[in-house]
Amino acid sequence: DEGAVLQPRPAVVTVMGHVDHGKTSLLDALRQTSVAAKEAGGITQHLGAFVVDMPSGSLITFLDTPGHAAFSAMRARGAAVTDIVVLVVAADDGVMQQTLEAMSHAQAAGVPIVVAINKCDKPAADPERVKMQLGAEGLLLEDLGGDVQVVEVSAKSKVGLDKLEEALLLQAEMMDLKSRIDGPAQAYVVEARLDRGRGPLATAIVKSGTLICGQYIVAGAEWGRIRAIRDMLGMTTTSGKPAMPVEIEGLKGLPMAGDDVVVVNTEERARMLSHGRKKKLEKDRLLKASEERT
Ligand code: GTP
Ligand code: NA
Ligand code: MG
Repeated sequence: DEGAVLQPRPAVVTVMGHVDHGKTSLLDALRQTSVAAKEAGGITQHLGAFVVDMPSGSLITFLDTPGHAAFSAMRARGAAVTDIVVLVVAADDGVMQQTLEAMSHAQAAGVPIVVAINKCDKPAADPERVKMQLGAEGLLLEDLGGDVQVVEVSAKSKVGLDKLEEALLLQAEMMDLKSRIDGPAQAYVVEARLDRGRGPLATAIVKSGTLICGQYIVAGAEWGRIRAIRDMLGMTTTSGKPAMPVEIEGLKGLPMAGDDVVVVNTEERARMLSHGRKKKLEKDRLLKASEERT
């Protein structure tokens, strides 16, 4: 992207943490604070990624992780689609196995963490204990003189959500996030599903450039021509811009979470690239199978 004009873009935030600590609930609560959600009159935003537009006018793109599969896949491919990880820890349970896994995933990827201590409404909540546990694991919390922000929240009682948004905006501001907006898009798949009528649908986040309807793309090992692009409200749009989640229709098969999306000039090029990648996947699969036998 050397020499390209860079423009500020929203932060892409991934919510991670131990099972049932409230990742999805927290996202739902944040989503309800979104201006767009209010304007849409409660229409369900159907993507696993969505944008919260705060009263201040700032945007944040959020990704949910059911387990760490998607994040690990992205990390493995060096995609680094995530700018910030929100590490959700239930105030009653405290630090658990997957809390630590999420923490090390984020640290290995060099992604800054903001801690959200959730379920603070519960009688058994002990946020101080959670902070001690995280500190003991080497996380340098601001309360203990470090620079990792910690907020106490309750997704259930909708307490502390403004503080969490503030913390994320502060973190994003420090990172000075910018992307090239012109030219061919580079994007990453966050989820994919098969729709009966519309065929394979991939939710993607554009990393740089602009994705345009009608373009030939290769997503992982799959190719297609973009037939439709939808935004997080399910509205048809003509293009996808950096940090904005979009749903792409037109692929011939289902890509995987973490797969990269590239734009190519011709159908022939798309087919060739897809074919090459499929052969490589098959070769890797056979190699792995033979290694497992020996
Ligand atoms: P997985 O995706 O399955 O790992 O779970 P999750 O982390 O997304 O948690 P989820 O949002 O599904 O919440 C798990 C349970 O905790 C649900 O029963 C929620 O109602 C409950 N819960 C979530 N947040 C809060 C909270 O702030 N307070 C209380 N009391 N309960 C909560
Ligand atoms: Na759950
Ligand atoms: Mg969940």
